Amino acid sequence: MTDSPAPMRSPSRPAHRRFRFQFRTSRAWLPAQVAGLRRGPPLLPMLTSSPVAFITGAGRRIGAAIARTLAAAGYRLVLHCNDSRKEAEALVDELGGPGRAEVLQGDLTDAAFCALAISQAVECFGRLDLLVNNASRYTRLPLIDTSLDEFQRLFFLNCFAPIELMREFAALGTPGCIVNLLDARIAKIDHKAAAYHLAKQTLAEATRMAALAWAKQRLRVNGVAPGLVRPAEGVPLSRMAHLLPFVPLGIRTPEEQVASAVRFLAENDVVTGEILYLDGGLHLADASIGEKQ
Ligand SMILES: NC(=O)c1ccc[n+]([C@@H]2O[C@H](COP(=O)([O-])OP(=O)(O)OC[C@H]3O[C@@H](n4cnc5c(N)ncnc54)[C@H](OP(=O)(O)O)[C@@H]3O)[C@@H](O)[C@H]2O)c1
Repeated sequence: MTDSPAPMRSPSRPAHRRFRFQFRTSRAWLPAQVAGLRRGPPLLPMLTSSPVAFITGAGRRIGAAIARTLAAAGYRLVLHCNDSRKEAEALVDELGGPGRAEVLQGDLTDAAFCALAISQAVECFGRLDLLVNNASRYTRLPLIDTSLDEFQRLFFLNCFAPIELMREFAALGTPGCIVNLLDARIAKIDHKAAAYHLAKQTLAEATRMAALAWAKQRLRVNGVAPGLVRPAEGVPLSRMAHLLPFVPLGIRTPEEQVASAVRFLAENDVVTGEILYLDGGLHLADASIGEKQ
């Protein structure tokens, strides 16, 4: 343990260029106060009173919408990206520049990055109040056509990486909040996207488990389960129209509604272990989406 102050950013180097992940096999290269985070109480002092959120996959789409909403609510942000570095840097500028937001880049299928991502996020502003596990990949493959490799990749990104980030957050020993991005389809069986579906279902169970496990340290863990928000990158929204009849309210979920639900869960001190469906009632419908009734 140490009371030494947080490492300061070098003024000559833009903050959002500092966190390109470098593979290391041990924690020995980290500053002592960061390397020691796993066991001790918070080691880095609060720099200001405004809270800090770390959002994975924040460069574009739903992750970027969550970032805008949290920034408007007064959060400082650590915006994680993998390939979307330019978009993440543009978002930093949009949200007020370094000091308001910083970029942390890395591949969440790399176990070494996952193990260090939280301590690197803490290093950005000296504290962490909210983790949003948003990064994900969707593949539409039935069980029979999903190779073991694909299962491992999908499970790692959609389930094991969020769990590892949650564990690292819990190891800080501080109160806070975690919101996991799930999917309304977990309420049914989506056999056409087997690995994605099973990974999100497991993450939903892990959300409840973590909520119970870490309640005593006032670390709350919740999930949001969106329905139809956006089709894959490059596909027009109109291509979702044929799926709307499966949604009881008959409407798509705007990404701003997902973002405002994340904010609600972050701000409400008594909610933990909850999974909030943002899906126009899709999880209540008789048939799985795209399946004939
Ligand atoms: N879209 C929907 O309609 C919908 C519906 C239900 C649930 N959801 C859930 O909502 C969340 C956001 O959805 P979305 O459609 O906005 O997600 P998305 O665009 O498919 O993916 C979000 C981000 O995940 C990051 N990512 C992918 N592979 C990665 C890797 N190996 N390492 C690190 N990051 C990686 C990507 O970051 P880079 O671009 O930087 O590589 C990407 O921008 C997801 O968890 C999804 O399951 C979405």
